Amino acid sequence: MQVMKRLDAIKVEFEKAVDACSDVSSMEDIRVAFLGRKCELTQILRNVSSLSAEEKPLVGKQANILKNEFARKLEELKERLERADASGKAEKIDVTLPGIKRRLGARHPLRSTLSRINDIFVSLGFAIAEGPEIETEFYNFEALNIPLDHPSRDAFDTFYVEGKHVLRSHTSNVQIHVMQKQPPPVQMIMPGRVYRPDAVDASHSFMFHQVEGLMVDRGVSFSDLKGVLSIFCRSMFGEDIKMRLRPHFFPFTEPSAEVDISCIICGGKGCRVCKGNGWLEILGAGMVNPKVFEAVGYDPEKYTGFAFGMGVERIAMLLYGIEDIRLFFENDVRFLKQFI
Ligand code: DAH
Repeated sequence: MQVMKRLDAIKVEFEKAVDACSDVSSMEDIRVAFLGRKCELTQILRNVSSLSAEEKPLVGKQANILKNEFARKLEELKERLERADASGKAEKIDVTLPGIKRRLGARHPLRSTLSRINDIFVSLGFAIAEGPEIETEFYNFEALNIPLDHPSRDAFDTFYVEGKHVLRSHTSNVQIHVMQKQPPPVQMIMPGRVYRPDAVDASHSFMFHQVEGLMVDRGVSFSDLKGVLSIFCRSMFGEDIKMRLRPHFFPFTEPSAEVDISCIICGGKGCRVCKGNGWLEILGAGMVNPKVFEAVGYDPEKYTGFAFGMGVERIAMLLYGIEDIRLFFENDVRFLKQFI
């Protein structure tokens, strides 16, 4: 029974080898060593016919059992090794690979311009208020002393929506809401969107942004207006900027002015941006018309005030040297990412 003992020994050796095996290539070595053409088990099977009649069936049976068992165990081992290999790969971190770049968003240039404007006025003691974009004619026109025959009340100049409602054509409507809600003193700025049915071109948009300003108290004078605006212009555009006031007309202020700054491109010498005259118009302003105070129930004998209104797009265009207002609204990342 020499051969049967050998078979037992082969089985023990095989199991030891399988236990020690940790990768697919040494598994292939085991296959060759225990099932290959030249291995001992194969030799035994090949020589069964030369064994004694007594040994022949026993050895033949046992050798075949081992052959099948080895094949099955090697198959199981292979599956186990492949599974371990796959999970090992998933966990492996290659520190030499380049990282994943996260694309950072950024503020829209109009937003950052607006927050600079807000910051300057807040530092001067102004609070911030907002008002409705869909407005009644009273708040958009009447209370602001804009008469029925004023051209801005024409349907070509204002979006009329259902009933007597309009999309506000300026932020001056918020002045009225603010004053109706509180007695003087008032010191507020009022940013927001405004709408006008203008044909869109490089300098016009049917929707744009304004910041309104209002200060009302006893003894507020034109020099307060000039002081506040000149601090604003210098904080926004630089200490060297000059400011001038040109007489103008607005129904809701009296006297009224348009405010220019010296051209930030040429410094006042005259260039394409300032159209050769050295000045750039940036806002409208004036002393609140007593009729506006009457509309909100303030006593014009007791109180005076100033108001102003500026276009945010215009300021941003000057600040960043942008020549086409449409760029703000097209959402083109190539344009927007310049402001990151
Ligand atoms: N509402 C004016 C406009 O849209 C701007 C403006 C001018 C506002 C003078 C004011 C002001 O408060 O005093 O063109």
